[in-house]
Amino acid sequence: WILMTTARAPTNIAVIKYWGKRDETLILPLNENISVTLDLDHLSATTTVAEISLSGGRFQTCLREIRYRGEDFKDEKKGICIKKEDWQTLHVHIASFNNFPTAAGLASSAAGFACLVYSLAKLMNLKENCSQLSAIARQGSGSACRSLYGGFVKWTMGNELNGSDSLAVQLVDETHWDDIVIIIAVVSSRQKDTSSTSGMRDSVESSALLQYRAKTIVPKRMIQMDKAIKTRDFASFAKLTCADSNQFHAVCLDTVPPIFYLNNTSHRIINFMERWNHNEGTPQVAYTFDAGPNAVMLAPNRKVGALLLQRLLFYFPPPSGTEPTSYILGDTSL
Ligand code: DP6
Repeated sequence: WILMTTARAPTNIAVIKYWGKRDETLILPLNENISVTLDLDHLSATTTVAEISLSGGRFQTCLREIRYRGEDFKDEKKGICIKKEDWQTLHVHIASFNNFPTAAGLASSAAGFACLVYSLAKLMNLKENCSQLSAIARQGSGSACRSLYGGFVKWTMGNELNGSDSLAVQLVDETHWDDIVIIIAVVSSRQKDTSSTSGMRDSVESSALLQYRAKTIVPKRMIQMDKAIKTRDFASFAKLTCADSNQFHAVCLDTVPPIFYLNNTSHRIINFMERWNHNEGTPQVAYTFDAGPNAVMLAPNRKVGALLLQRLLFYFPPPSGTEPTSYILGDTSL
């Protein structure tokens, strides 16, 4: 027999960015952060785990953490009986794929590790809840801890030295603000030159702006963002989201050597969105960029979302010969 579990996990996009670790091995963040989880249909990872074998540092950490918490498994009909200590020695085979570009700054590691941890936990019959599992996913990739939940999610700093309380908590579930529309413009699906892991290591070592941001700016923004989300105040939400994305990229420029994640098209998209908000007097749309040039844009409802998509296709037409759907991901049925 083969015991097998398959899971799908969505990616998440930070609206208050995680950038910088206070502990590299345990992956503990320098500042708290908040993300929105996308729905499963668009950007997700699918992972199947069965017993056989695997190598790789962060994978091994997650696997070890889960093995050690495994519980007895019994299926009398199939005659399967696995004792919890057996999980230590059984090999696992893992097959995983993303339905979106890997390492192009679309948080693929987040969906990947969340999915891996969740499927292994199901396979080994763990009793832990999503928050406790998020502390394991965090050790695969920091942002992965937030993909265990839908809706808006906060990654808390935690106080424990072993990192056990640095985990994800759901601020509001996916039904709370479900008219928000997210459109992603894949500006480039090239793999990024500087990974988040090495980029944030350089920022921690060299950027004074990062230290100031983590200590002084983010704690205030976390309170404001929490309130904007809970009261569905799109104007405040948009201001904070854009400001935090821009500050994150300013930290990248303040890093030695400087890191350039945005390209010309990203800058043009920022200008276009800023002009739109300026002309309306109050923010109608928001944008945020992770460690890559691809734009994640948010609109408060389908009407504004449709207008945004229409304008994007006009001002930033997809390269000739490509279907718009391969250029703009997200809800193209608007
Ligand atoms: C810019 O979670 O990919 O997307 O913990 O080293 O794996 P590691 O980094 P990762 O960093 C994500 C950085 C970001 C901001 C965010 O998602 O909060």
